[in-house]
Amino acid sequence: MVSLSNKRVLLGVTGGIAAYKSAEIIRRLQDSGATVRVVMTQAATEFITPLTLQALSGNPVHLDLLDPEAEAGMGHIELSRWADLILVAPATADFIAKLASGEADNLLQAICLASRSLLALAPAMNQGMWRNAATQQNIELLRTRGVHLFGPAEGEQACGDVGPGRMSEPDDIVELAAELFESGVLNNRTVVITAGPTREAIDPVRFISNHSSGKMGYALAEAAAEAGAETVLISGPVGLQAPDRVKLVKIISAQEMYETSLNEAQKCDLFIASAAVADYRPISVAAQKIKKSADTLAIELLKNPDIVSAVAKLEKRPFTVGFAAETQDIERHARDKLERKNLDMVIANDVSDSAIGFDSDDNAVLVVDPTGSETIPRTHKSILARQLIAKIAGLL
Ligand code: PMT
Repeated sequence: MVSLSNKRVLLGVTGGIAAYKSAEIIRRLQDSGATVRVVMTQAATEFITPLTLQALSGNPVHLDLLDPEAEAGMGHIELSRWADLILVAPATADFIAKLASGEADNLLQAICLASRSLLALAPAMNQGMWRNAATQQNIELLRTRGVHLFGPAEGEQACGDVGPGRMSEPDDIVELAAELFESGVLNNRTVVITAGPTREAIDPVRFISNHSSGKMGYALAEAAAEAGAETVLISGPVGLQAPDRVKLVKIISAQEMYETSLNEAQKCDLFIASAAVADYRPISVAAQKIKKSADTLAIELLKNPDIVSAVAKLEKRPFTVGFAAETQDIERHARDKLERKNLDMVIANDVSDSAIGFDSDDNAVLVVDPTGSETIPRTHKSILARQLIAKIAGLL
């Protein structure tokens, strides 16, 4: 059984007779674990009703680029950021031609143009239209731009012709969609990732912590596992489920994260420190709940060990990647951390922006290494994680 667990798939439906099969595609995607949202072109609604696809997907169907109400809800830019994969099935010759020429005069075209997600098309058209040199040139152009083509299949067509142009079967389309996430770039590698906050106890009921949700680290773990790595996720207390195929080690304090990390890092090829580790902990933890009495309370703090620096000092050291949570002068501080902690790469994010960084679904980063820096603009953390894993895998 193919897995699209935790994947967000935006299914684009364009106006061809194969549009009736989109209902089946939604079902198969959901059976594989994906969450599905649907965008239809006007022509597609002539072949299957939005109500059918809304009922099956469990989400409102998006139709119109210029609908103020829909744009105020989940607008075209948000949809383009939301999707891990945009799958257009069926993709007509007209849609393919417009996509190749970069047009954006309907919602689906605009989303495809704005998105940095994976994009796959399941072409469906008459065999003459498919064979036409214009269509073939458009297909070639889209391929060179990284668009994935699922099919078309050959056989008898709705118009009575026989040849290439039938849309591939829903099961095949969903299988190919799942394969897109399995890059294999980290096959035979072991990756250790720290995620989430740590909690530093003050007394039996109170602690010092921070706002990390673990979303960035969990997305990295999922991307590493998809890339074929044996993945260990060392996580502070968060409300997330561990991704499939990932070994989860739960810890509470920085000291516990330190000990587990050093143990696991001896055996790994790549260590990524995305956790927001508390820099200090109370020197002593009160055995009983501290009673409220005086107007002020002083708690003496002791510096916690720096986990990522300790990993970078190991004799048999993995490729070591740190994060940098900054609020200003991002590149300067990131480069300083790269050198001071002796890291191979630092991924810096601006945590003063509430739309990215701590506890948000999106992030935007500056990747700094000894050779230079690269900005990765705002996108969903799962998409960003895949981009980061691909980049790191290329350097391993
Ligand atoms: O969890 P989310 O809500 O998704 O938010 C993601 C994030 C903002 C937490 C994440 O993207 C991030 O920036 N993580 C690093 C947070 C941090 O502690 O940054 P820092 O600049 O203080 O630390 C630099 C590096 O040293 C980090 O890799 C950190 O994990 C590591 N460190 C810090 C202290 C310590 N004692 N040991 C460490 O290993």
